[in-house]
Amino acid sequence: MAMVTSKHQRKQGSNWSVDDIDFEGIEHSAVARDQDLMYLLAAASFVEISSDLYTHNLVQYFHGDREIEDWLLNTWEPEELQHGAALRRYVTRAWPTFDWDSAYRDFYDDYSRFCGIEQLGPTRALELAARCVVETGTASMYTLLGQLTDEPVLQQLTEHIRRDEIRHYSHFYRYFVRYQMTRPATRLAVLRTLWARINEVDGEDAYYAFKHVFQYAAPEQTFDERSYRAFRQRLLGRARELYPVHMASKMLLKPLALGPRVQRTALPLVVAGARLLMRH
Ligand SMILES: [Fe+2]
Ligand SMILES: [Fe+2]
Repeated sequence: MAMVTSKHQRKQGSNWSVDDIDFEGIEHSAVARDQDLMYLLAAASFVEISSDLYTHNLVQYFHGDREIEDWLLNTWEPEELQHGAALRRYVTRAWPTFDWDSAYRDFYDDYSRFCGIEQLGPTRALELAARCVVETGTASMYTLLGQLTDEPVLQQLTEHIRRDEIRHYSHFYRYFVRYQMTRPATRLAVLRTLWARINEVDGEDAYYAFKHVFQYAAPEQTFDERSYRAFRQRLLGRARELYPVHMASKMLLKPLALGPRVQRTALPLVVAGARLLMRH
């Protein structure tokens, strides 16, 4: 946990930094009473700022592939940590009574227990396809967030993060194609992997993150699964019309490398997958 700041400082590659964001300019009246937005952003900051756990696993998994190792360590991880640091600063400025540090500490204790290497894909190509799903999920979420709010600082921040996530997707996709050229996974195996990851992406992370945010932000209420389900329902109601389904579908289709005719046939399934991805 303590490493978050130092890793954040050695960020390379990204074209923005936390200090570029004018947090003093937050229009408090636009967000202060939006409790669900606070839950969502605080939960996202927890998951992003814990990316070092995941990177460690991934780097180990791609040991020997210098290009991927280097990119994960020097670009991807610092950028994900920066997302967490920027979101954390936004949350603590916009909702100053929320005890971010304590809630994060509790979250980290839970999260670090289930974030193990055994959760990675059976082959490198398939893990890379799965990472495309994860980045599609985050790119879609920040696209959605930017549309969900009128608060200009948050719009600026989510736009920066959204672009990073799309770039992450492009990198994972490029590495996936490289592995497909030498040790190709079958289309069915890719489809299975995409579908499996769509169904699990961020499910546990988001649940635990919400749980610990909720326990500190609403201490007068008792947390249970229903609190989480109710939060998701409220969010779905607000966001239904704003889902970037087209963008997400295109991103999910790419690793399948289908011809145009098959693509048309597969589209309803992929759109369903894209919608599902954004419901987690
Ligand atoms: Fe991120
Ligand atoms: Fe990312």
